[in-house]
Amino acid sequence: MQHLREVLRQSQRDGVAVGHFNVSDLLLLKAVFGAARERNVPVLVGVSEGEREFFGTRQLAAFVRSLREEYDFPVFLNADHTHSLAKAVEAAKAGFDSVVFDLSALPLEDNIRQTREAVEALKSISPSFLVEGEIGDIGTGSEIHEDIPSAPRALTTPAEARQFVEATRIDILAPAVGNAHGMLRSMVDGTTKKHLNIERIREIKQAAGVFLTLHGASGTGDADLRQAIEAGINIIHINTELRLAWRRGLEEALTLREGEIVPYKILPLAIARIQQVVSSRLEFFQGAPPRSR
Ligand code: G3H
Ligand code: ZN
Repeated sequence: MQHLREVLRQSQRDGVAVGHFNVSDLLLLKAVFGAARERNVPVLVGVSEGEREFFGTRQLAAFVRSLREEYDFPVFLNADHTHSLAKAVEAAKAGFDSVVFDLSALPLEDNIRQTREAVEALKSISPSFLVEGEIGDIGTGSEIHEDIPSAPRALTTPAEARQFVEATRIDILAPAVGNAHGMLRSMVDGTTKKHLNIERIREIKQAAGVFLTLHGASGTGDADLRQAIEAGINIIHINTELRLAWRRGLEEALTLREGEIVPYKILPLAIARIQQVVSSRLEFFQGAPPRSR
């Protein structure tokens, strides 16, 4: 089985991006894995600290490992938005493939110092474990937000990106390039879309020279995503769109099966609804029809 780094290298060569989808429960995990198998493309399953708390860090790692082994399929596990070294170490020891070590709320110098320490500590646990660092403000909360922030968020500069990567030796960088976590209500029905600064992505890629992740991709227009991949984005994170599909899918399934109490008769429809969203995103990120594996 390939390591995540090799999968990212291959994706970069192919000019495609790897989809990263957050899961909080088994419905979401089944939907993400089902979609990746349907499309026959590698996939990253992401769990934030809160999602790990709910699912169980080691339990999820065991589940994903068993999927990977039983189906001989490139499904990888990322400890998303991790704010302490202790939590990152816990994930690395549990067998995760990568971490988003997110100290982006700290001043840049503190972020650099602590991220560098984390890279050293985590690589000593597992040299193939990938560390993603984050700079800039991309907001918090994969939810439906009622208001946009009053002041526009500053973008990561190429100089900051280069300084951060050189000083920390991270494998992957998450920059602020117009992206933001969550969706506005007007994005739910598609009236508005998020827009990215493509030129800035290109400049950061050139300056930083590492894999780049686009966080907060829910509600982003297709043309922006396509250009972002072409400009150097390697991983695309989607969460809010899945949570929305989870809720709608559950509601539809419960309504359709009114009176039913058997979970395995009710829940497949909810999984199918989430899987449709993941599958169409994967198709788009990979830019190709499914291949046979
Ligand atoms: O790390 C998670 C992602 O960045 C999700 O962002 O909820 O806007 O899709 P999203
Ligand atoms: Zn994120």
